[in-house]
Amino acid sequence: MKLEKIVFLGAGNMAEALAKGLMAGGLCPADRIRVTDVSEERLAHFRKEYGIESLTSNVQALHGATVVVLSVKPQVMGALLAEIAPVLDKQTLVISIAAGVPVSRMEAALGEGTRVVRVMPNMPSLVRMSASALCGGHWVGETDFEMAETILRAVGITVRVSETDMDAVTALSGSGPAYVFYLMECMLEAARKLHLDDDVARQLVYATIEGAARLTQETGVEASVLRQRVTSKGGTTAAALDVFEKRGVREALIDAVTAAHDRSRELSKS
Ligand SMILES: NC(=O)c1ccc[n+]([C@@H]2O[C@H](COP(=O)([O-])OP(=O)(O)OC[C@H]3O[C@@H](n4cnc5c(N)ncnc54)[C@H](OP(=O)(O)O)[C@@H]3O)[C@@H](O)[C@H]2O)c1
Repeated sequence: MKLEKIVFLGAGNMAEALAKGLMAGGLCPADRIRVTDVSEERLAHFRKEYGIESLTSNVQALHGATVVVLSVKPQVMGALLAEIAPVLDKQTLVISIAAGVPVSRMEAALGEGTRVVRVMPNMPSLVRMSASALCGGHWVGETDFEMAETILRAVGITVRVSETDMDAVTALSGSGPAYVFYLMECMLEAARKLHLDDDVARQLVYATIEGAARLTQETGVEASVLRQRVTSKGGTTAAALDVFEKRGVREALIDAVTAAHDRSRELSKS
């Protein structure tokens, strides 16, 4: 399957991140990308910044599309599906990045035989460091998965999951960047209390978080083992971790991710 024409319905932040990733990675030049939006401003932005064909009509945009990426907010998905269903070619692979919209709902709206891949990317797509999980519908084949993976890998890593795991994925990597931002906020607040210069603290915190993640990835050593290695008995790290354990930070974090999972499940049903 060749990526002749990729069409993004909804030219928001995620569509822009993906389009930029595809162009930067040499996977797809601007002239094989098309976007739609209700906002003239967004369309003008895509035209001016990237030379990408931009139009308001979702129906017209689908003409000749190899892949269509549904990149609108979940609350407008119903209307969008109803609008494109009558004109969508069954040859076109549908990739949805809308949070919480089940494959079955899209298949029901778009008709039998439509190949739908559902993806949960995350915010670091904007810097090509996304963590995306993919699952496929009834009619999705291996080449469809590979095409979706090729597109999503333009902005980061991909994993395949079953759709029943999508709420857990949403809780882990979908909402995950916010947990890390929260940790950053706390570390920076502590640094301020300790009279460290803001700019110095920021540089140290960002590099520390990125470094810890990369160390875990590159060594393949479990985070729990690396944590033990960096914690000498009676030392400074031990003093900090002792506070975490005593205050129940571990339980709070596990409860928080579970709450995100439960909320994702509720929202998908509604
Ligand atoms: N941002 C994230 O970190 C993230 C992570 C994972 C998944 N997602 C999912 O990715 C999707 C897009 O998110 P985003 O952050 O890129 O949203 P966004 O910036 O709001 O982009 C959506 C765009 O679609 C436009 N739009 C609305 N109705 C439309 C229609 N009928 N036809 C064409 N375009 C229409 C919107 O215009 P108006 O704003 O004028 O309505 C907006 O410009 C969402 O479903 C979200 O759940 C996002």
